[in-house]
Amino acid sequence: MAISVNDIKRYNTPVDETTIYDPLALVTKAKGSMIWMYGKKEPYIDLLMSYSSANFGHTNKEILAYVKSAAEKVDNIIGFNSSEKAELSKKLVELLPHPGNKVPYFPVGGTKAIDAAIKLAKAYTKKDIIIAFSGAFHGYSYAGMSVTDDAFVAKSQFGTYPGKVKLFPFPHRLAVDAQRVAKDILTKIETYLKANHNKVAAILFEPIQGAAGFLIPPGNFLSDLIEIAKKYHVVTICDEIQTGVCRTGTFYYINQVGIDPDIVLLSKSLAGGYYPLSAVIANREIYEAVDTGHSGFDSTFGTNLFGIEIANNVMSYIKKNKIPNLVQKTGEYFFHELKQLTDTYSFIKELDHIGMAYGYRVEAKSGKIEDGAALAKQIRKEAFRNHLITQTAGVHGDHMKLSPNFFITKTEVQLVMKKLKKVFDQCR
Ligand SMILES: Cc1ncc(COP(=O)(O)O)c(C=O)c1O
Repeated sequence: MAISVNDIKRYNTPVDETTIYDPLALVTKAKGSMIWMYGKKEPYIDLLMSYSSANFGHTNKEILAYVKSAAEKVDNIIGFNSSEKAELSKKLVELLPHPGNKVPYFPVGGTKAIDAAIKLAKAYTKKDIIIAFSGAFHGYSYAGMSVTDDAFVAKSQFGTYPGKVKLFPFPHRLAVDAQRVAKDILTKIETYLKANHNKVAAILFEPIQGAAGFLIPPGNFLSDLIEIAKKYHVVTICDEIQTGVCRTGTFYYINQVGIDPDIVLLSKSLAGGYYPLSAVIANREIYEAVDTGHSGFDSTFGTNLFGIEIANNVMSYIKKNKIPNLVQKTGEYFFHELKQLTDTYSFIKELDHIGMAYGYRVEAKSGKIEDGAALAKQIRKEAFRNHLITQTAGVHGDHMKLSPNFFITKTEVQLVMKKLKKVFDQCR
């Protein structure tokens, strides 16, 4: 069937994210770090990787083979227990810094995992308030939006939201006086808990804020946060949906900080980016607090054997290919090249990275945040014109983030830097 430009325009859904780049840019093929578009000979280098769901590269041959073999191996049934599920559960729990008696439940997609974690915390504590952070992104379900910073979604148009949310600022290790700022935030949280601990069900946090521009908190912020929560019997929920599955150089980011949240969430690349599997890994007694029968958790496509079987193979693939080591090594190389390049542009500030997650702030000559946001947008646009896919970030839109393919080659890294130089020169 022939599709015309008019058809493309007619059937483009206005809320699709495709409109950010160019609704007429039609993807025809994706492989490794590259995406090909209809009518364009030169491929685009992807530094976004389908929002980190294709961490192992687009159309990775081995991952694709797992998808095919999972389709052959597991029968098309949903809603039963299986040895495959137990195997994946064991693998995920054993990699936690504090496995304890944790068990996972496997919903569909990241934001459903957020919903489930909030429900669990409320059912377990019989309390209702969720503490979350400015700059946080937890997805677009109603519960997800209720704990997501207003900057990422124009909330008021969608009516009322479930439950009460109390927001606190999130510290950034590169901010002025970062340690003191972090301490002040913790003091404020503790003061709030002292007065309200009988109402607060959970503290929900991204250990590194992804949509805010990969903002890493300073020193002991996370461990101190967990300690305060435990003191006031508040459940801690750690959203590793973006940081997990090796993006930061360890399977979980919390492997690097050694904390023990009550609930840990994963999704994105867990099933290689082919099935929207997520995991809600929580202490068993939290699950046991739920009144079962009609538990209010599972859904038609939850605990999906097909996704679980792919994920089992993805976990073996990570081990076999020593992916954390690869991410650490490639992550350092990419950062070294990026730092060398960005050091020569005064509008790029606070470049930071962990593993293969990179972020920086864009500051315009005027110093005004809105001008920085306009410049970041211009950089993204110019990058796209130069066949480079990047993303703006941050609550004000004046940050940019990069999350490249784990298997990006040195030649590709050099090409990225060459293109970025051209883009930065154009936007100077
Ligand atoms: C930290 C975090 N939590 C939750 C979500 C929501 O996941 P999904 O888009 O799969 O619903 C995202 C998505 O980007 C995320 O980055």
